[in-house]
Amino acid sequence: MADKVTTIKLKEMKQKGEKITMLTAYDFSTAKVLNEAGIDIILVGDSLGMVKLGYENTLPVTVEDIFYHTKAVKRGNSRALLVADMPFMSYETNKKDALYNAGRMVKEGGAEAVKIEGGIDCIETIKSIIRTKIPVMGHLGLTPQAINQLGGYKVQGREEEAAEKIFFEARELEKAGVFAIVLECIPEKLSQKITKTISVPTIGIGAGPVCDGQVLVTDDMIGLFAEFKPKFVKRYLNLRPQIVNAVKQYCAEVKEGKFPSEEHTYK
Ligand code: KIV
Repeated sequence: MADKVTTIKLKEMKQKGEKITMLTAYDFSTAKVLNEAGIDIILVGDSLGMVKLGYENTLPVTVEDIFYHTKAVKRGNSRALLVADMPFMSYETNKKDALYNAGRMVKEGGAEAVKIEGGIDCIETIKSIIRTKIPVMGHLGLTPQAINQLGGYKVQGREEEAAEKIFFEARELEKAGVFAIVLECIPEKLSQKITKTISVPTIGIGAGPVCDGQVLVTDDMIGLFAEFKPKFVKRYLNLRPQIVNAVKQYCAEVKEGKFPSEEHTYK
């Protein structure tokens, strides 16, 4: 497909000042919808744990979970770059595990790249995955897999020292060869400094409009996941009450004998 989004194309988009769009998907039909709408990157994020599996945070998500959902998304995707998230403890234990798990995402799952949360602590692992020819997307700022260390979903890099560390890590990730970096929940000034300095695209979530692209969790932006709504989420659709109403109407029609009607009945 001529229009296919690749890591090379994303770099060209940054150079041309063309904004990059990214959303999450965990299933075949959502991937089809995102493709039809022309999204650039689809992420099978470990947010899956919270919005689809009902966990309190992303930590329980397994390689098998991401793997299973990546295969489903792959079947519905054609144009977007397909990125699989490396879940908690799938790359931290040792390089061998990291390579094996990243390899499975690509070889069996059909992902075209993987995303890894963290900076300097996982730089050697990231380098070795890239050496095996698997493109890696970095993720800095609020890294939800570090929730127990961060003490909550808070804006990161507000203090000068913390901001310097994130800036330094962005440059190290660029040197390591990542093709893009997600910047989550950091002040706009810091995203601007990073975006202007590094050559690879920055994809923001709660990092302001200066980033080269934006990402949201699809279930948040369509109003399906309504347990909580971070400040950075814009709901483009409020789907949940619409589904509740549709289900109520269905229940009423079944109970009243109005559904199925002639139209939905085989003769
Ligand atoms: O898991 C996820 O959906 C993510 C995005 C929010 C970037 O990491």
